[in-house]
Amino acid sequence: MTEFDARSIEALQPGAQRPRRWRRTPALRDLVRETTLAPDDLVYPLFVVSGKGVRSPIPSMPGVDQLSVDLLGGEAGALESLGIKAVLLFGIPETKDPAGLESHSEDGVVQQAIRALRDASPDLVVMTDVCLCEYTDHGHCGVLDSEGYVLNDETLEILARIAVSHGEAGADVVAPSGMIDGMVGAIRGALDGEGLERVAILSYAVKYASAFYGPFRDAAEGAPAFGDRKSHQMDSGNAREALREAALDVEQGADALLLKPALGYLDVVRRVHERFPELPLAAYNVSGEYAMVKAAAANGWLDERAVVLEVLTGIRRAGADLVVTYHAKDAAAWIQGAGA
Ligand code: PBG
Repeated sequence: MTEFDARSIEALQPGAQRPRRWRRTPALRDLVRETTLAPDDLVYPLFVVSGKGVRSPIPSMPGVDQLSVDLLGGEAGALESLGIKAVLLFGIPETKDPAGLESHSEDGVVQQAIRALRDASPDLVVMTDVCLCEYTDHGHCGVLDSEGYVLNDETLEILARIAVSHGEAGADVVAPSGMIDGMVGAIRGALDGEGLERVAILSYAVKYASAFYGPFRDAAEGAPAFGDRKSHQMDSGNAREALREAALDVEQGADALLLKPALGYLDVVRRVHERFPELPLAAYNVSGEYAMVKAAAANGWLDERAVVLEVLTGIRRAGADLVVTYHAKDAAAWIQGAGA
């Protein structure tokens, strides 16, 4: 055996590759980072309730509150000062009924919220969730037949009405989240019919039937009273089907696609991104994903800041342009702090 010079890999491999040269200092690392995260990549969800001066914490989502309409202006100002440019609104109505009537009432809680945000923060991008589950007394995403099955085409008509009422109130983007076949086409047709061509559709094209929505259902008070959402939301084993769902929504005129949850489905984020590179893609870092990080951080088991920034960067690296996340405010503050 010849002698091995342990001091240098060049002795063994002349001109050896040394990827670590780019990792030596923070500035070198910053210079070659492939995926970056900025506050304007983030969308912050807001849960809006009726009443005045209401800020009620959601126990399973520490740091997230239900807010009444009068507090939204202040919240929007705080978001804008953090560099966050978009919110996604969910309404918790005062009354629920089998057909979810408040969902498209001119004075519904979301319609009021949209107008309040438009007044307070004209530049903020206002996105709205378009679904029935928060508004129906049975908690399902559409009208039901006698067996409790969500009726597709009967539901489409209501979704279209909701989207129009949001557009009329001033929403920039409507985000149908019900996984009802044909929802994008029905909504586009209705918006255009009412002269609301400017309103964009961010379709929840790929939404899995996930146990990670649990805390959200506390927050939005929209858990199904019986059964589950498996007759319309996707099965977690399927990825090719996601491409079919996305293709149908693109065909029907979706302006952007959303996929959720994020973390268990990053392979699907990547595949949708590669198949439809021309459309903005959003991924929803959902309530259960948020709750896991918060619980572990509260126990001192994880470094919250490092984990959150790593998770959000990972979702972007998988192919998402935008990330809807309850961590948005903290993440934006950390990103800004890092740059200062
Ligand atoms: C339906 C809707 C849900 C979420 C967003 N829109 C709940 C569901 O489908 O059961 C979940 C978001 C989250 O878990 O953070 N309106």
